[in-house]
Amino acid sequence: MGYNNILSPRELKLPLGLERFSDKLPKVVLEIGFGNGEYTVKWAAANPDSLVVGLEVSFSCVVRCARRIKDAGLSNLKIIRTDARFMMKELFADESLDMVMMNFPCPWPKTRHAKRRVTAKEFADSLAAVLKTGGVFELVTDEEWYAAEVQKALSGHEALSVSCETDFSRAVTTKYERKWLAMGKKITKLSVTKTKKFTVDRRTWKFDWNNEEDTAMHVKTRKPLPEDGLAFLPCVSGAVGDARWAFSGYYTAADEHNDKKFLVETVASDDEFEQRFYLKVVERDEGVMVKLDGSAKVFLTPAVRFAVEDLARRLADASGVN
Ligand SMILES: C[S@@+](CC[C@H](N)C(=O)[O-])C[C@H]1O[C@@H](n2cnc3c(N)ncnc32)[C@H](O)[C@@H]1O
Repeated sequence: MGYNNILSPRELKLPLGLERFSDKLPKVVLEIGFGNGEYTVKWAAANPDSLVVGLEVSFSCVVRCARRIKDAGLSNLKIIRTDARFMMKELFADESLDMVMMNFPCPWPKTRHAKRRVTAKEFADSLAAVLKTGGVFELVTDEEWYAAEVQKALSGHEALSVSCETDFSRAVTTKYERKWLAMGKKITKLSVTKTKKFTVDRRTWKFDWNNEEDTAMHVKTRKPLPEDGLAFLPCVSGAVGDARWAFSGYYTAADEHNDKKFLVETVASDDEFEQRFYLKVVERDEGVMVKLDGSAKVFLTPAVRFAVEDLARRLADASGVN
C-alpha cells in the first residue's frame, strides 16, 4: 500500500516548487520532527488554507504519520523523511515559508551530542533564509535550559527577533504536552520573527535540475570491467571539501544476457548529512555504466555525485586498458 503524501527525494527538484501542490499558493508551513504526526495532522486539518510540509528523520515515524494523513483524508500535508539540519535550506527557497514549527525537539543534553540538536550550527542562518520576512518560527519545549540556549543563539542573529513565554495555551497540543501540563510541568514557547531578508549558500542548487544529464547521476566509461571485477573495492573512500564517500562492499549478479552486474554499498555525506544507498555497475557497449540503483532514496547532493564519478574513475583505472 503506497502513501502519496510521502515525497520521495529522487522525484524532487530543489528547491521545492511548492506550486505543484496547490494552484493558488496558500500559507506554507513547515514542521520539523513531527514524531507520530498526531499534532501535525490535527494542525493541518484545522488549517485547510495552509500547505504543511513535515520533515522527520525517523522512518517509522514517517510511516505512522502517513497512515494518519491517509485516514484523515488530508491533501494539504506532505511529509519527507530527511534530516532537517541539512535539508531545510536545500528544500526551501529564500522567503518561502510563513511559519516553521518545532514541538519538543530532542534536546540532546550531553555536550558530545550537541551537534545533533536541530538548532545547532547553521540553523539560525537557514531559518533566516527560508522564512518570509514577517514569518515566524515557533519552538515549544519542556527543557528550560534548551529554550534558553536556543533563545541566546537566535537572538544574536541580524535577521531574527526572539520572544519567550511560559504561560500560553494553544488550540492543538501534542500527547506529551497534555501529559506534562497535567503534571504541572513548565513548558516554554519561543516565537522568532524574521525581520529582514537574508540568504545562505545551498549545496544542491548547483545542479541544473532541468538538465537530465546533470541529475541522472550516471557515468559511462569506455573501458571494460576489470578482470577481477570489483575486487579492489571494499573500504575505498574519497573526499572533496566537506563531501565524503566510501564504498563498503558489493554484490554480484548477472542479467538475462549473462552480463555482469554489481551493486555497490555506498555511504556519502555532505558535511554531517549522511546518505546510504547502492550504486549499480553494469557492462554497457564495451564499457561500464555506473549509476544510482533504482532503490536509492537519496537527495542528489555533491557527495552522491562525487561517489558516482569516483567509482567510474576507479573502474576505468583498474581495467588495465589505456
Ligand atoms: C521528542 S520527539 C517529538 C515529536 C513530536 N514533535 C511531538 O511533540 O510529539 C522529536 C522528533 O524529532 C525527530 N528529529 C530529531 N532530529 C531530527 C532532524 N535532524 N530532522 C528531522 N527530525 C528530527 C525525531 O525523530 C523525533 O521524532
